[in-house]
Amino acid sequence: MNARAERVGDPGPDSGSGAAGGGISVRNLAVRYGEHLALDGVTVEVPAGRVTGLIGMNGSGKSTLFKAIMGMVRPDAGSVRIAGDGQAAARRGGLVGYVPQSEDVDWAFPVSVRDVVMMGRYGHQGRTRRPRAADHAAVDAALARVELSELADRQIGQLSGGQKKRAFVARGIAQEARILLLDEPFAGVDKRSEATIVRLLRELADDGRTVLVSTHDLHALPQLADEAVLLLRRVLFHGTVAEALRPERLALAFGLDVLGGASS
Ligand SMILES: Nc1ncnc2c1ncn2[C@@H]1O[C@H](COP(=O)(O)OP(=O)(O)OP(=O)(O)O)[C@@H](O)[C@H]1O
Ligand SMILES: [Mg+2]
Repeated sequence: MNARAERVGDPGPDSGSGAAGGGISVRNLAVRYGEHLALDGVTVEVPAGRVTGLIGMNGSGKSTLFKAIMGMVRPDAGSVRIAGDGQAAARRGGLVGYVPQSEDVDWAFPVSVRDVVMMGRYGHQGRTRRPRAADHAAVDAALARVELSELADRQIGQLSGGQKKRAFVARGIAQEARILLLDEPFAGVDKRSEATIVRLLRELADDGRTVLVSTHDLHALPQLADEAVLLLRRVLFHGTVAEALRPERLALAFGLDVLGGASS
C-alpha cells in the first residue's frame, strides 16, 4: 500500500466502505489540464451512510475531483467506481446527483426552478421523458424541503445565490440519488438555509446515501460531516473531523504557517 494517505480515527463500525458498500472508490486518480497537474495519485474511499467533507484551499482540486467522479473530465490515470459500477453505468442509472459550484453553471439558461428540479427525474421517466404524477409529486416535495415552493416558476437565473444552491440541492433530492456530490453548497448561503441543507444532508446520509460535500466553512464542519478529507492535489488526510481540524493538518492543507515557523 504505497502512497496511502494518513488515516486517523475510527470512522464508525457501520460505515460501508467505498464502492462495494454503495459508496465511491477512487484509485490513484490523476487529472491534468494541459501542463497543470490538478490531481495526482488521489485514492479515497467515500462510504455510504455518512457525510464526508472535502476540504482544501482554492485550486486544491476539489471541483476537479467532483468532475472526475462525474466523468466530466478525463483522468490521465486511475479509476473511479460508484456503488460497484463504472461511472457511465452509475450515471445512466441516475445513481449520482451533482450540485456544481455556482461558477460552473450557465444561469442564463431559460428554465424555471421547477424545470431544474424536474431534470433530476429524467432517469425515472423512461424514454418519453414525460413527467408523471409521481415525478410532479417528487419535485413538489423536494422544493418544499428546501423551502423554494413559492419561487418554483421563476427563471433559475432570477434567484439569489443561496436560492440557486437550494434549487440544485432539490434536484438531487428529487432524483433520489444514492450518491450526492455537492460542490460548495454553502457558498453565499445564509445561516438559516445552511442549517436547512445540513439537516437535509444528515437525513439523506442516515437513510444510507453517500454524501460528499466540499466546503470552506470549517466552523460548520463538525455539524455537517462525519468524516473529512483534506485535499491538496492529493489526499493529505482522511479521518475524523476533529483530527482533520487540528491546526497542523489545516496548516499543511492551506499552506499556512500557523505553527509560527515550527514546521519541519
Ligand atoms: N478547465 C480548466 N483548465 C485549466 N486549468 C484548470 C481548469 N479547471 C481547473 N483548473 C486548475 O486546476 C486546479 C484545480 O482547480 P479546481 O477548480 O479543481 O480547484 P478547487 O479546489 O475546486 O478550488 P476552489 O476552492 O477555488 O473552488 C487549479 O489550479 C485550477 O486553476
Ligand atoms: Mg471548486
